[in-house]
Amino acid sequence: MVKVLFVCLGNICRSPTADGIFRGLVARAGLDKRIEVDSAGTGAWHVGNPPDPRTQKAAEVRGYDLSMLRARQAIEADFHEFDLILAMDHANYNELMSLQPANSKASLRLFLSYAPELGVQEVPDPYYGGDDGFEQVLDLVEAAGENLLAELIKQYKL
Ligand code: 4NP
Repeated sequence: MVKVLFVCLGNICRSPTADGIFRGLVARAGLDKRIEVDSAGTGAWHVGNPPDPRTQKAAEVRGYDLSMLRARQAIEADFHEFDLILAMDHANYNELMSLQPANSKASLRLFLSYAPELGVQEVPDPYYGGDDGFEQVLDLVEAAGENLLAELIKQYKL
């Protein structure tokens, strides 16, 4: 089993979007027995909450149901549990770096490092902005998610 963890700040907007979309891509490829997907936040404000209603609505329009997801905080043990931990922006990446133990199993990367063709390194935080921010999150996540899946299939010979 290859285990992938998406991480943002609150775990109610960007990383649940990545979680739901990537789960969908994995299921469509028939790989749900080979790839496990989860998400978490570096912050604890929203622990136990479902994704932001704006995030759920935007995802639903594109056919992804995020309603069953609940926010949790990223912990050190995640670095022993997951193979790949993918940060949405540099601030999340730096927070995770300080949580990463010396004997980490997981590789830590920026999620958009899988999509250099996009020309952006970060998935922008949509929380304090308008609806277009949520659409942009979906666009970036769909593109990078396709590349990530192709890369995992190649790397792990799935
Ligand atoms: P996310 O967005 O990191 O994409 O889940 C945010 C959600 C909530 C907050 C910040 C970012 N907040 O400050 O409460």
